Amino acid sequence: MARRKKIYEGKAKILYEGPEPGTLVQYFKDDATAFNAQKKDVVDGKGVLNNRLSEFFMTGLNNIGVPTHFIRRLNMREQLVRSCEIIPLEIVVRNVAAGSLAQRLGLEEGAALPRPIVEYYYKDDKLNDPMVTEEHIAAFGWASQQDMDDILSLALRVNDFLSGVMIAVGIKLVDFKIEVGRVYDGDYQRLIVADEISPDSCRLWDAETGQKLDKDVFRRDLGNLADAYTEVARRLGVMPKNS
Ligand code: C5P
Repeated sequence: MARRKKIYEGKAKILYEGPEPGTLVQYFKDDATAFNAQKKDVVDGKGVLNNRLSEFFMTGLNNIGVPTHFIRRLNMREQLVRSCEIIPLEIVVRNVAAGSLAQRLGLEEGAALPRPIVEYYYKDDKLNDPMVTEEHIAAFGWASQQDMDDILSLALRVNDFLSGVMIAVGIKLVDFKIEVGRVYDGDYQRLIVADEISPDSCRLWDAETGQKLDKDVFRRDLGNLADAYTEVARRLGVMPKNS
């Protein structure tokens, strides 16, 4: 294949110019990073697993009418996606106390939350993605009030879908992050789920044993990350070996 123009390289993925206008090719790397890339490693096969898992989740969302950027998987490590204007927010939904929420509020990891909690972080690696409120988002013009209503609705629909899919295979969805982008159909603007949904961006615990099956395995040196992701893929019937 002809060499494609690289549009953007992030910590775990590369975006290339797509074959048609309005499309991009999203390439999944094996690089694992944590704590804003202070901890780094290469995990063989992680990119292949995340490409398949993100395809699985995004396809499921598309099928239930939650719009995403995913068009189709191209090969083991690449998928064709719709290009969009990323809103500079990381949108986190939490069902169970863990990670930075548990730390910030002194909650016990694993404590149930009274209802799903949605948080917003400003996407800026130099600033370590600081948490922001809707006041900041409105004042700095990162998203309109309509965007925020749509983002909340998308985030909760993704939570319902993912929670259901995961619990059906004995996995508790503790929390996850999504990114959202704008697309334009003529003058009409709408928001779609972008980036990836994978064990890199979710906390997934075995519902019986509490075993961690997500990037915390890498963050906290709890074992082999590819084995954990393979277990998630196996339970969901997403088998990377059949490519
Ligand atoms: O670290 P924290 O508890 O705030 O993370 C909440 C959720 O968002 C976790 O599932 C984590 O994997 C995800 N996340 C992410 N990318 C970030 C920050 C958090 O995918 N930059």
